[in-house]
Amino acid sequence: MQSLIKGFSKLSREEKIKVLAEQQQLAPEIAASFEAFLHPEQQHLFNDISENIISNFYLPFSLAPNFLINETLYMVPMVIEESSVVAAASKAAGFWAKNGGFQTRVISTTKNGQLFFNWQGNINALNERKKEIEDLILTATATITSKMRQRGGGITGIEFEKVPNIVDIYQALIKFQTADSMGANFINTCLETIGPELMAYINQHPQLKQEHEASVIMAILSNYTPECLVECKISCSIEQLRPYAGSYTPKEFAKRFKTAVDIAMNDPYRAVTHNKGIFNGIDAVVLATGNDFRAIEAGAQAYASRNGRYASLTNIELRDEQFKYTLTVPLALGTVGGLTNNHPMAKAAMHILQQPSAEQLMQVAAAAGMANNFAAVASLVTTGIQKGHMKLHLSNILNAFGADEAEKAAATKHFKDSVVSYTMVANFLNTIRR
Ligand code: MEV
Repeated sequence: MQSLIKGFSKLSREEKIKVLAEQQQLAPEIAASFEAFLHPEQQHLFNDISENIISNFYLPFSLAPNFLINETLYMVPMVIEESSVVAAASKAAGFWAKNGGFQTRVISTTKNGQLFFNWQGNINALNERKKEIEDLILTATATITSKMRQRGGGITGIEFEKVPNIVDIYQALIKFQTADSMGANFINTCLETIGPELMAYINQHPQLKQEHEASVIMAILSNYTPECLVECKISCSIEQLRPYAGSYTPKEFAKRFKTAVDIAMNDPYRAVTHNKGIFNGIDAVVLATGNDFRAIEAGAQAYASRNGRYASLTNIELRDEQFKYTLTVPLALGTVGGLTNNHPMAKAAMHILQQPSAEQLMQVAAAAGMANNFAAVASLVTTGIQKGHMKLHLSNILNAFGADEAEKAAATKHFKDSVVSYTMVANFLNTIRR
């Protein structure tokens, strides 16, 4: 067994690579790519983002134009590795721009913090003193919330709940508004300040104190944000769907589309893939703007199960010859703080989006999710996904086989009207290389 490495984080970048090279054969091209992918002028920015950095990992930064969202046109920056996503989003955005655009609205922006504590009392005794406790926590956090309050945010409420199935464990569920920031640090700082104050209050109060002192177990924001919700709607007459209908009539297409959405409503296996198509768009915007995609995914996937069963995040209605399609999704996004202002490309994305507020960004991300989902489901119920998908994937496959420009041109021509697969591209290259 190899020995454990001590003090790795304290080594320089070059020393870290040397340790790696001592542990395993490091092919010269791998070592070279660590150097090649360093930023020539601004590496210091990336060196401060994480730990043990030996290089950078590039992903494409793309633009999806023609997103008409509530009468405003956006070019949407998207960072994603999957080749067909930006093309599908752009095509759908262009179509919807001519058919009413994306109608979006933020339903709510509340975020939650959780303070778990050990206590042997009765929850009613806490709830009876909620007003007094609210005053206590507002006073205890007055200094740290002052800037946030100036921006319209702050602590907006507190609920006490017993954690089910665990003896003597309670939570204070604290509600926050965090204005244009995602708010994780703000919420966590507040919670860690509130914890000792609340415990002292309980332990000194004649009606609340118990034989064993109340004590904090942990305090952290919740990434489940069902009250930080955005809605995105697209609607048009069924006849207007003709460009997506393929060989079907618009009416047949709309019915097939509805059946696909109904399936995603009722079958969790399909619902996950259906929602994944939504997150192709959302995650790409979340990444481009330097937001926390794990938080967004965790919260929204949980929201998809809010009725006790994982289901589609979209809803469809076909009535009176009209197609109405709605996405509702929790998106706790920020446009200030964190990486949004530190990463040069996240800054560029914010610039492209005309310095949006958090609420505007929620709406843009939802529209991108809607565009990708609409495009995916439309393909699935007409031509199938592989036609468009693998065509765009062709250049990736060609790159993987080290094809030169002449080979790429020949392959593009050859696969223009035929199915693309790794094997078929390999065979084609072998033939022309022979
Ligand atoms: C692929 O990245 C996304 C799709 O699978 C989404 C869907 O099936 O709806 C095409």
